Amino acid sequence: MDIHLSPPSKTILAIVTASLLTACSGSSISGQQTPQQAAGPLAIGLVVPLSGVYAPLGEDMTNGFKLYLDQHGGRLGGKEIALKSSDEGEGPQTGVPAATKLVTQDKAVAVAGIVNSATALGARNAFIESKVPLVIANAGANDVTAGASPYIWRTSFTNNDVAASLGAEVAEQAGDGSVYLIAPDYAAGKEMIGGFKKTFEAAGGKVAGESFTPFGTTKDFQPFLSTIKGSGAKAVFCFYSGAEAVGFVTQYAQFGLADDLPLYATGFLTEGSVLKAQGGAATGAQTSLHYSDQIDTPRNKEFVAAYQAAYNEPPTVFAVQAYDAAAVLDKAIAKAAAPTGEAIAKVIGEIGPIDSPRGQWSFDADHDPTQPYYLRKVEDRAGTLVNVVVKKLGQD
Ligand code: BEZ
Repeated sequence: MDIHLSPPSKTILAIVTASLLTACSGSSISGQQTPQQAAGPLAIGLVVPLSGVYAPLGEDMTNGFKLYLDQHGGRLGGKEIALKSSDEGEGPQTGVPAATKLVTQDKAVAVAGIVNSATALGARNAFIESKVPLVIANAGANDVTAGASPYIWRTSFTNNDVAASLGAEVAEQAGDGSVYLIAPDYAAGKEMIGGFKKTFEAAGGKVAGESFTPFGTTKDFQPFLSTIKGSGAKAVFCFYSGAEAVGFVTQYAQFGLADDLPLYATGFLTEGSVLKAQGGAATGAQTSLHYSDQIDTPRNKEFVAAYQAAYNEPPTVFAVQAYDAAAVLDKAIAKAAAPTGEAIAKVIGEIGPIDSPRGQWSFDADHDPTQPYYLRKVEDRAGTLVNVVVKKLGQD
């Protein structure tokens, strides 16, 4: 099947080429194991950020993946697993080689993870060429699943869907007031703003202005906050995650905007350890996401209790997406005719629904989850800030 993607940047092409050249010197890019390797534990790769802006997300994803393994005796599909980890870092310069190394050096038969959209776009083709399935457990780049390659699957969301789910709600709440849009200047930031704008404007919303902040280097948001103040906006929509979410939300409150301009965002803004770091500055923020640890179902309660017992903190969407990636691989390895990348990829489309803490979901035709999004609001519940589920925003 032909795959139509927007052309990758020269930088990303250079990174992929360099990774493949390193890979091909002395070893095959193939994820096939030798008979000797096949007799031992099955190598599965996990590539998440252990450093940089998105390190808190990587920690949660590692916890989620490991919790699933622990709950299943260290096995996926009945096979003993050797989990190989690799640090994605902040962007494609580090993330693409980290992902491909899991296949070329560690001989992983499948890889899960990837937080950053630009990294996912840069790594994608190497997995297709090596015939090793990549189960993306966060990065939302819209085009990364385009063409529905049997080697590319995603347990998280698309940037467009998670942001678009909030547009009509904000248009209604803002009424005649205009809304300022702000996000980091890279693939995910641009796609989140684009997705939000589409449904927001279609519902009659007015945009006061937009800014894209340099990704990974913006520590001082004051100049952007001044621009927002001067724009006449009556509310703000943003996408930030990890360390940038802490910086933006705390400075938004320090600058005095939190009292006057309601803050809307995709739910990554107030998820997990960053919400604790933001403290009261995040109170009242309204976000869209496909998970909250507050979802009131027996399946989620059981998961939250197990996660809390294992890590002494509540789970996040990042942990759930990685937990579900392990569940996908569990089912696929059990079904595969052989423990090879090619055989595993062949059956991922046949595994049926995933019984997730977020609710049951299945892959759609593009290999992304079909799932509802929720409107959440940060509230103080008995001295703890939580993302209270207000209502369902609709199915993607
Ligand atoms: C992304 O780059 O796709 C992304 C990063 C953090 C949170 C959500 C999306």
